[in-house]
Amino acid sequence: MRDQAEKLREIARGARTTFNSGNAIIKKNAIQARVIAVTSGKGGVGKTNFTVNLAVALTKLGKNVMIIDADLGLGNVEYVLGCTSRYNLYDLLNRTCTVKDIITESPHGVKFMSGGSGIYQLAELSEDKLNEVIGQTMQYDEWADIILVDTGAGINRNVMNFVVAADEVIVVTTTEPTAIADAYALMKVYNIYNGTATLKLVINRVNEYSEGESVANKLIKVAQQFLGVSVGSLGFVYEDKNLVKAVKNQVPVIIAQPDTVAARSIVDIAQRLLYGKPANSDGIAGFFKKFLNRLR
Ligand SMILES: Nc1ncnc2c1ncn2[C@@H]1O[C@H](COP(=O)(O)OP(=O)(O)OP(=O)(O)O)[C@@H](O)[C@H]1O
Ligand SMILES: [Mg+2]
Repeated sequence: MRDQAEKLREIARGARTTFNSGNAIIKKNAIQARVIAVTSGKGGVGKTNFTVNLAVALTKLGKNVMIIDADLGLGNVEYVLGCTSRYNLYDLLNRTCTVKDIITESPHGVKFMSGGSGIYQLAELSEDKLNEVIGQTMQYDEWADIILVDTGAGINRNVMNFVVAADEVIVVTTTEPTAIADAYALMKVYNIYNGTATLKLVINRVNEYSEGESVANKLIKVAQQFLGVSVGSLGFVYEDKNLVKAVKNQVPVIIAQPDTVAARSIVDIAQRLLYGKPANSDGIAGFFKKFLNRLR
């Protein structure tokens, strides 16, 4: 048991250049992907649309981006991205496909992996199999600079395990009082889970700049004052009926209508994310390791 924990710690630290995963020796990649969770509190505030459009914006800015759909059972990244995946993690664990097969290339250059319910089977794997799977996931660090994890809504353990495992966390809210209250609840729970990332706020569906600014300032202030949690603002996404139309057409708005206000605001956020200082990253293997430690 101690042996396995130590191996996983080494993977997460990137302490070795190679890792023996079953029969294969996998080279440790020097550059590890930034793993960013996108979460909310209240459902339906726009996480999935924001994640997909942010991924496309980052791709246009020259980054290799992969989305992990962690809204287990209810995921709709595929729908918004306009592609379908044949396999998910469950199939990988059951050896019906390879690690490469579970990554789908969308028409817009964004890679996509569906977690499916298989992600929970990770916790039940034998030590050898677990090491093999984690070893295989390291390859994602070579294929992606940034991995966006689209979570489900809420503050339950299923969601929080993903959120706490990520290097960086984006909290999406609208300007509705209920969504703001739930975003605050999420920050509170993140603190209780001993999350260490600086939370970054995105206010979605704003009608005016001042509206977004006022909500962001209020949330940042109460989080600092009552929770001692430091929150930063990444910016606002404008209310835009073109986004709704794009959802219906299953083409991300940033592709369908790049000059619309929603698309432009997401590009601004992508730039802010790239030019801001990234958190120290343990890469994808580190993400899975932290996630698994929470399940066990
Ligand atoms: N900026 C926006 N302008 C207009 N409508 C928007 C905007 N963002 C999201 N919406 C609307 O909100 C709907 C829900 O968005 P989305 O599915 O991305 O939310 P979610 O937070 O991922 O939901 P869930 O919690 O169910 O996963 C979209 O289908 C769209 O109609
Ligand atoms: Mg969603």
